[in-house]
Amino acid sequence: MKTAPVPHEARIATGDSGVHYDTPPVVFERLLDANMNYSSGYYLTGEEDLDQAQRAKMDKIAAMCGFQPGARVLDLGCGWSGPATYFADVHGCRVTGYTLSRTQRDFAMERAEARGCAERLDIRVQNVLDAELEVEHYDHVVFLESIIHMKEKAELFDRCNQALKPSGTLFVQESCYDKNSKDAAYQTERGRDAVDLAFGGTTTMVSAGEMQRLMEEAGLSPVYSENITNHYTRTLSQWLDNLDEHAEEMEAADPAFFPMLRKYLMLALATYRMAQTQCFLIAAQKAPLTWIRRHAGPRA
Ligand SMILES: C[S@@+](CC[C@H](N)C(=O)[O-])C[C@H]1O[C@@H](n2cnc3c(N)ncnc32)[C@H](O)[C@@H]1O
Repeated sequence: MKTAPVPHEARIATGDSGVHYDTPPVVFERLLDANMNYSSGYYLTGEEDLDQAQRAKMDKIAAMCGFQPGARVLDLGCGWSGPATYFADVHGCRVTGYTLSRTQRDFAMERAEARGCAERLDIRVQNVLDAELEVEHYDHVVFLESIIHMKEKAELFDRCNQALKPSGTLFVQESCYDKNSKDAAYQTERGRDAVDLAFGGTTTMVSAGEMQRLMEEAGLSPVYSENITNHYTRTLSQWLDNLDEHAEEMEAADPAFFPMLRKYLMLALATYRMAQTQCFLIAAQKAPLTWIRRHAGPRA
């Protein structure tokens, strides 16, 4: 059964971190690719449109992690479940996703029904910090631009390590600081506080090095890291093109949210262009040999 979206203006005032994601889906349907991915795409040639870049990103994750039909994938912070639904539909995985937003869950499950993959998709509305994750149950755990909202990264990686099977993979796509130059400056960026409040808290960003250190401390071995900042600036530009094209409709759907969304996306684009924020793909393994045999070149 569908649940009505919660009015977000009142929630912004109280600092409710889920507010951004309870926005009527039509706003994001006009902004994002057809699959509703709210994270960077991956541009193999630079000529791709948003749909192609998002598919390339999801297929890259699937190939790097070695997704197999029937594999159990845990998607923590799954958004409108664009990636989760694609992994269930196209790669045949059994995906459990967590989001703070009932609006997102309703949207995802309705779409999965239409695509005929709902029995492989289980979307739960719960804070991942409160979720009971079954021990050694999952083949893969992914955080796709969601762990930025969660300050308890050490605890989460520890729990992911326990939830993964012995050959399991943790995959993180996330915005990170340029630690060397911007740590303090980033936190005090003018105008950042209001935007941060409305977008679910982004001030718990860490550097890419810190992210990997936290993985290691949880007992996971980082095996791969790629800086995809240029991919994100292209994605953000394409989102802003969509926003300009559909401005009237998006603003009518949510007049209070629209200007804030525009400000947020422009601020984000500026920080990526200046490399104050950089986007990374980072993978870690419980047993690094599994990865190395698959990806790290011929053996001597
Ligand atoms: C930027 S969206 C990422 C969307 C998705 N991963 C994608 O690539 O399309 C962040 C998501 O993280 C979720 N989230 C943030 N904090 C969370 C928490 N503590 N527990 C569960 N979900 C959370 C939000 O509800 C939202 O769905």
